[in-house]
Amino acid sequence: MTFQEPLRLTPDAAGLKTAAEIFTKGGLVSFPTETVYGLGADARNDRAVARIYAAKGRPSFNPLIVHVADMAAAENFCAFNDAARRLSQAFWPGALTLVLPLRPEAGISELVTAGLDTLAVRVPDHPVARGLLAAFGGPVAAPSANPSGRVSPTTAAHVMAGLGDRIDAIIDGGDCAVGVESTIVNCVGQPALLRAGGIPVEALEACLGQSLSATQDPSIPIAPGQLASHYAPRGKLRLNASYAQEGEVLLGFGPVDAVVNLSVAGDLTEAAARLFACLHQLDAIGADAIAVSPIPDHGLGRAINDRLKRAAAPR
Ligand code: TXA
Ligand code: MG
Repeated sequence: MTFQEPLRLTPDAAGLKTAAEIFTKGGLVSFPTETVYGLGADARNDRAVARIYAAKGRPSFNPLIVHVADMAAAENFCAFNDAARRLSQAFWPGALTLVLPLRPEAGISELVTAGLDTLAVRVPDHPVARGLLAAFGGPVAAPSANPSGRVSPTTAAHVMAGLGDRIDAIIDGGDCAVGVESTIVNCVGQPALLRAGGIPVEALEACLGQSLSATQDPSIPIAPGQLASHYAPRGKLRLNASYAQEGEVLLGFGPVDAVVNLSVAGDLTEAAARLFACLHQLDAIGADAIAVSPIPDHGLGRAINDRLKRAAAPR
């Protein structure tokens, strides 16, 4: 099933029903979550999942996140320990992904896990995503809906610009409120942070009553979010810049004179929500060199700085 132009679905019951039917037939639907737009397919259908990798141009060894409607659904696919239970009770639905032991009998495509015996799972907190999961009634594999290595989409227009000719349908649910991807915690063994994201690490640590280990379990593959160059706009980035030098465009934070500003008020939540839209905007105005204001490295600032560091890495 390939359409020239993707179907534009409305975020109402009729649109969600059509989207669920497309999943059932093995198609790809982009849908909004509170973090970023996802590129979804039935997580049990090998061919459909293979189409996700092809559409994104994603290295096939990078496993995908499975989205489910609720905790009960998640338990069908993976095994929860105490830490995982605590975190999911406190933060689901929400911008937290847990890596847990996979139930091999659960029927998840091996392409989703890239052959690992663990599964990354999350319950999103967005009315459209939740409505879609309820309408479909199965697990939906969905990475961010951008070509591999490019900036993640936080609007339907971003998705259309990057993948418009490679998807069957898109549900336009407006702007994503959080704006950075979910925080990923590996709950196999001591809970460890795999990717900073929409739920601040401080909140997770307060919930667990212990700090998250940052040390990588060597048996865990490197997440693409951990590849050096990722989330990249076309222009070259210079971080922690107090002002733009000649030829540079300033990506501001706080009350600075900048064409593109993450948050004039210096608010980290606003800055996270606007981060990818600002990077898309810098691409659109053809910025070759980008100076970035310093961003405080706490709360959501950690996720923002993580994405900016990767965007600034040599490619
Ligand atoms: O907010 C989000 O998480 C968005 C929305 C659409 O839900 N999704 C997203 O997916 O960011 P993606 O595919 O761009 O990033 C998934 C990350 C990758 O870094 C991948 O390596 C990691 O999750 N991952 C998936 N399964 C894993 C596993 N079993 N063990 C370790 N890392 C895993
Ligand atoms: Mg991504």
